[in-house]
Amino acid sequence: MASNSFGSLFRITTWGESHGPAIGVVIDGCPAGLPLSEEDIQPMLDRRAPGVSSLTTPRKEQDKVQILSGVFEGVTTGAPISLIIWNKDGKSGSYNPVRHLLKPGHANFTYLAKYGVFDHRGSGRASGRETACRVAAGAVALKILTLCSVRIIAYVKRIGEIELSHVVEQDPELLKAQVTASPVSCPDPETSGSMVSLIETVRNEKDSVGGVIECRAFGLPAGLGDPIYEKIEATLAKGVLSIPAAKAVEFGAGFSSCRMRGSEHNDPFVKDSSGKIVTETNMAGGTLGGITTGMPLVFSAGFKPTSSIEKAQRTVDTSGEEKEFTLPEGSRHDPCIVLRAVPVIEAMTALCLVDALLLNRTSTVSLLSSKSSVH
Ligand SMILES: Cc1cc2nc3c(=O)[nH]c(=O)nc-3n(C[C@H](O)[C@H](O)[C@H](O)COP(=O)(O)O)c2cc1C
Repeated sequence: MASNSFGSLFRITTWGESHGPAIGVVIDGCPAGLPLSEEDIQPMLDRRAPGVSSLTTPRKEQDKVQILSGVFEGVTTGAPISLIIWNKDGKSGSYNPVRHLLKPGHANFTYLAKYGVFDHRGSGRASGRETACRVAAGAVALKILTLCSVRIIAYVKRIGEIELSHVVEQDPELLKAQVTASPVSCPDPETSGSMVSLIETVRNEKDSVGGVIECRAFGLPAGLGDPIYEKIEATLAKGVLSIPAAKAVEFGAGFSSCRMRGSEHNDPFVKDSSGKIVTETNMAGGTLGGITTGMPLVFSAGFKPTSSIEKAQRTVDTSGEEKEFTLPEGSRHDPCIVLRAVPVIEAMTALCLVDALLLNRTSTVSLLSSKSSVH
């Protein structure tokens, strides 16, 4: 299974299964000299952890991160950073009744088709639990981005048929405060209330619901990203679509740009009050030619409804015999995984952007020739 790494210079490799002893991530390529401790990582992990809201799964995992390597006397050394999170709440035996059943909407059919073996205990590598590792690595990437004055904020834009219709706050601090105040990470209180009701209804119906997360990155310089195969949208789309249950991604005006005229969609260039060249609108979502324009990067990601639902579902077993799939006794799941995917989106965005920042150092001779501090 040669697909557990992501990134070029800031490269992560995640490992571990949902119901194994631990999960973790190795970060290779983090620059030396970054002050780093578990306290920089834990708050972001806490936002993704199960059991933190009445609307998410009650499965209680503490998701406490431990730094095993790559940090000496509080700063990164440039060596690989290894992060570990011990699994605590998994009851593997309860999955035995579904061991030979194909779970509708989940990965066991395709993993079996490909590898001939599947870790049925919480779906092994295909579990959403893997995303804790990305979030831990993303927190390190975010720390670097904060030093570069880049701010990433994701929020819930749609749950089922309930969509945020308000213009989103442009000030990052205000937007962050609105998102944090909402139980569903949606910046508008009224829309949040409707989303909460819908998720509760869906849960009572023993069902699940999908949704859309929008993400904005503020403070990016113009010129980040590379053309052709490394267009910034292309790497971000890969990162976002690698998140389990992510099914769609749109940049800027996205699919609605397909219904527009050029005169509506083209963002006019203007000089702002500080003399900087900006665009008056941001239909492009902050990129042109695969390179950032310096306007906020804006994209949204669509998530399908959680495949774990309490309703019985039709399926077959591995020999093709018709069966009914019901969730294992005591198993926990989210009626709407979109809520827990918000920090995962921020993490994948941070991983892509920090990589782009590092790669950017190779784009011109002037950036390469700055003097080394080593004598
Ligand atoms: C944070 C997070 C938590 C998830 N939790 C669950 C879950 O409890 N039950 C479930 O069926 N799927 C869950 N998923 C989604 C599955 O892992 C995913 O649907 C599965 O691996 C199949 O992959 P695909 O949907 O990308 O095709 C979760 C995803 C994320 C991002």
